[in-house]
Amino acid sequence: MLIVYDSLTGLGKKFSESLDYKSQPVKEKLSEKCILITRNVGAGKIPRTTKKFIRKHKELIVGFVNNGDREKHGETFCGSSDKLVKEYGLLLIKNIEGAGNDEDIKDVKAFIANHEN
Ligand SMILES: Cc1cc2nc3c(=O)[nH]c(=O)nc-3n(C[C@H](O)[C@H](O)[C@H](O)COP(=O)(O)O)c2cc1C
Repeated sequence: MLIVYDSLTGLGKKFSESLDYKSQPVKEKLSEKCILITRNVGAGKIPRTTKKFIRKHKELIVGFVNNGDREKHGETFCGSSDKLVKEYGLLLIKNIEGAGNDEDIKDVKAFIANHEN
């Protein structure tokens, strides 16, 4: 499984790389199924780059992980996940904080193992 990340400050990229699969940024060419690692840019707001990626590749996205900041944005932690599920029809794997922790890595790896084919 390929991991595709939309990461501005590098935390989503770091999480992507900790999964031990091939990974690449959203702006690169894509021709295989992937897991999307995205982030938030405000209460319930999806980054423009993520929207563009979804419009282009929706059918290749098996599920997504949203990366938020509970400390600074507790009220709207990973607020864009709801929209990604309801409006874009994507499957939420997990909301994580920053670069994620060992449990996040384990959970996402388990999801991938169940969705490899
Ligand atoms: C302008 C702005 C607004 C944000 N709003 C939210 C938010 O509403 N909820 C949330 O959970 N995180 C919010 N965040 C935090 C980002 O999702 C978080 O910093 C994320 O880890 C960035 O990932 P990256 O390092 O891969 O770019 C916001 C960040 C920025 C810069």
